[in-house]
Amino acid sequence: MDKYVIEGGRRLTGTVTVQSAKNSVLPLLAASILTGDEVVLRAVPAITDVVSMTEILRGLGADVRFDGDDLRIDSSGAEGYAVPASLSRELRSSVFMLGALLSRFRRASCAYPGGCDIGLRPIDLHLAALRRLGVEIEEREGRILCSAEKLRGAEVVLDFPSVGATENILLAAVCAEGTTTVCGAAKEPEICDLARFLNEMGAKVRGAGSDVIAIEGVPRLHGAKFTPMKDRIEAGTFLLAAAICGGEIETEGVRGETLGLLLHKLRENGCKIHAKNDKIRLQSSGKLRCNRRVETMPYPGFPTDLQAQETALNAGGEGVTLIVENLFETRFKYVPELMKMGADIEVRGRSALVRGRRLHGASVTCGDLRGGAALVLAALGAEGVSEVCDLSHIDRGYADFEGKLVRLGASLRRVRI
Ligand code: UD1
Repeated sequence: MDKYVIEGGRRLTGTVTVQSAKNSVLPLLAASILTGDEVVLRAVPAITDVVSMTEILRGLGADVRFDGDDLRIDSSGAEGYAVPASLSRELRSSVFMLGALLSRFRRASCAYPGGCDIGLRPIDLHLAALRRLGVEIEEREGRILCSAEKLRGAEVVLDFPSVGATENILLAAVCAEGTTTVCGAAKEPEICDLARFLNEMGAKVRGAGSDVIAIEGVPRLHGAKFTPMKDRIEAGTFLLAAAICGGEIETEGVRGETLGLLLHKLRENGCKIHAKNDKIRLQSSGKLRCNRRVETMPYPGFPTDLQAQETALNAGGEGVTLIVENLFETRFKYVPELMKMGADIEVRGRSALVRGRRLHGASVTCGDLRGGAALVLAALGAEGVSEVCDLSHIDRGYADFEGKLVRLGASLRRVRI
């Protein structure tokens, strides 16, 4: 239960080297079990969600070790197909193991997955898609038991472009007999990264990044070395931090197009933005106009994973904003904590009406990963000293968050409790 002690009001200046994307690395780790050959993932961030996923792989019999910040996975000796309940509950991405294990062993089981407490997060779309590929699924005592004599390619239509369901179908279909077509697929860049990795392993995936993906099954996959894409959500979090605090920063590793809506909103706030190749530079006076409306949407819309940080910005701006959360039911749980810092926010269902005002320091507690980041951002911009407690949530997704902020000039220290 570590905490940050933050003195607000410092400007941020400098360059941020963005880590590899959490939401890409996690499905890539699941994909590594598709082959008995060695897989190397380069520059893997030291975040606890990665640690949990490597524990799942080890538990199934894979040899997983860090070589510097590269991760080497050798699952030639893997034979387990049951993900322990304690690890399934630790992170949502454990659900990817269903598709991957079915591909490799034709059997898989896990408990209902956990992850951030941001809403119901059912997995009905994942299970319906697996059934289309010929998987029999039984749900017994909180566990999902899957088996298939043979995985058969099929047309799968997603009623909603679920990121996780799209990735699970890719994992299950790469070695199926025949071709699988996913209609209504999610278009997030992380889906393209998974498809690129699978193709490096010998798969035949076409159309990732569009809403129709075709996967032609191949008999087997082989090992690969792969550098995952950079984390657009981490980059967005730092850009929002600098916008709030004032200053000038540049992020390195993420292309502006993958954060199009965020950059548009930051320009509305009064920031100057220059994006070229994989660099994004932001200049801010720290005096921000509120956005009129911000609404989260599947990619390329405004990312739900930046909604809380965007609310923190608007809470300290000038004017009134309506934030609408369309992806998750209860993703405003951080709001009462933000209100301890003086924020004026009214939540009604999936919307929050934010009246901007100067925030002040307070003692607040993180309840989820992105909500926790939002509290840190608000504290960096607030007047006075804040304590942000329970950093375990932040550690799930941001590697060396404090180090990166301190190097930009923030006054923040981690206190180990
Ligand atoms: C992924 C990301 C998460 C991000 C989210 C939306 C990872 C590891 N996590 O989560 O950071 O916030 O995309 O961009 O990549 N749904 C169903 N049934 C299903 C699956 C999803 O109803 O079977 C609903 C969910 O409850 C939610 C919405 O669809 O309301 C979006 O979920 P989804 O796109 O699947 O998100 P995740 O893959 O869980």
